[in-house]
Amino acid sequence: MHILAPSDEGLRKAAEALTAGLLVAFPTETVYGLGGDGFNRHALARIFAAKGRPRFDPLIIHIAALDSLERIAAIASLELTLRNKLDLLCARLWPGPLTLILPKQPEVPDLATSGLPTVAVRFPDHQVAQQLIRLSTGAVAAPSANPFGYLSPTRAEHVQEQLGDQVTFIIDGGPCGIGVESTVLDLTAGSPRILRPGGTPRERIEEIIGAVEGPPVDSVRMFHSPGQLKSHYAPRTGLTLHRREEMILLPYEPSEAYLFFDRSSWDAWVQGPGHPYEVEPGWTETSRIRLLSERGNLDEAATRLFDTLHELDTIGVSVIRAQWVPDAGRGAAINDRLSRAAARTQAS
Ligand code: TXA
Ligand code: MG
Repeated sequence: MHILAPSDEGLRKAAEALTAGLLVAFPTETVYGLGGDGFNRHALARIFAAKGRPRFDPLIIHIAALDSLERIAAIASLELTLRNKLDLLCARLWPGPLTLILPKQPEVPDLATSGLPTVAVRFPDHQVAQQLIRLSTGAVAAPSANPFGYLSPTRAEHVQEQLGDQVTFIIDGGPCGIGVESTVLDLTAGSPRILRPGGTPRERIEEIIGAVEGPPVDSVRMFHSPGQLKSHYAPRTGLTLHRREEMILLPYEPSEAYLFFDRSSWDAWVQGPGHPYEVEPGWTETSRIRLLSERGNLDEAATRLFDTLHELDTIGVSVIRAQWVPDAGRGAAINDRLSRAAARTQAS
């Protein structure tokens, strides 16, 4: 494995490797992707093997031009109202952190879609990702570049630590701006339905195409999106989730980590009855006590979520006590990822 800078030379090398069926990890605006040629069965098989991902969990095909969409999705077979919604979403939200589920073209290998009649397509809003896709095959299958069930990577170093042996190149484009995966929106099932909350808030989608459904209350059991397994997005360290009222009363334990949403919750905890003797009001972060966003900005919290969980996962604490965030905007995606991490803790 080599780490490449996103220079012309680096991108050319990476694109050659992709075109030859090898795997390249690359930055997007959401998280790092583990890329392989979306039309090459060998490359697709390598992706599943590298991640240890079950083959029933389909991949997203990444494009870098709107006119690539018809190569992958059978748009003509969509009913007219959905077709109109698709056009609006493409015009207004692409490129961006939105993945659309559409009827698939027969040429897309079944391995990419796990045999489903539908395909996931995304046009990422990241220069490096776009150039790589354009310079290679125009259709790059890429799941998040983490081992199956582990936290998604938001830095090249995360990929290197987790999947370094499995890829030919990692393009280092620095930290990802959005920090949570794309929103997955199904446009094949009558009315549009969110299968995975993510970087594009539901409110933003509804402004453009009107009301959307989902995600189902228990999307895990209902299994609408095959990737919605409980083990997803989890740190190895156990995690418990607490509402603000509960969080600020937690007794301080030196063996535990605390992940606060905002400064006001942190301060309330420091002043509360669980009062940790080591922590004075106004203290900034320690390695075990962390803050997602000083002022409670949900976009900033999303950007920092996986990065912070990665760090807390390496410092040897007994458990991570995390605070729910407000459910608006990208808060829905943050709460989704946190609750999956907590669900695994309960199950194991
Ligand atoms: O932001 C992202 O979407 C990142 C970056 C790399 O683009 N990619 C990503 O891929 O998160 P992955 O494989 O980790 O998640 C893809 C999700 C899974 O939950 C999968 O089940 C769902 O999309 N999916 C893919 N194809 C589908 C389909 N045909 N029907 C329903 N869900 C599908
Ligand atoms: Mg993933």
